[in-house]
Amino acid sequence: VSEINTGFVGQEMCKRDSKIAESKIAQKIPYVLKAEESKTYAWCACGRSENQPFCEGSHAVTDLRPVIVNIEEEKNVAWCGCKQSQNKPYCDGTHSKL
Ligand code: FES
Ligand code: FES
Repeated sequence: VSEINTGFVGQEMCKRDSKIAESKIAQKIPYVLKAEESKTYAWCACGRSENQPFCEGSHAVTDLRPVIVNIEEEKNVAWCGCKQSQNKPYCDGTHSKL
């Protein structure tokens, strides 16, 4: 029984290892967009979405997940486009060093 269990664990690890942990740089500048009041946004962390800067499910091939934020008031938001910000989902200037 322990052999079967070991094999199963090995397969699970292989599957996980085959997933991608790295995000892609969508662009090296932020996406500055007007956000609506009291709206929830799913920012794409993986860089693979065709609907930047927002998630559309393309992260499924990766281990990454979107960052969900609720914007309370209408305002311009600088969404990180390079995906390397230390203050995700917002641009913190890190893109200038890439
Ligand atoms: Fe990139 Fe969902 S598509 S996090
Ligand atoms: Fe990513 Fe500015 S676009 S830190």
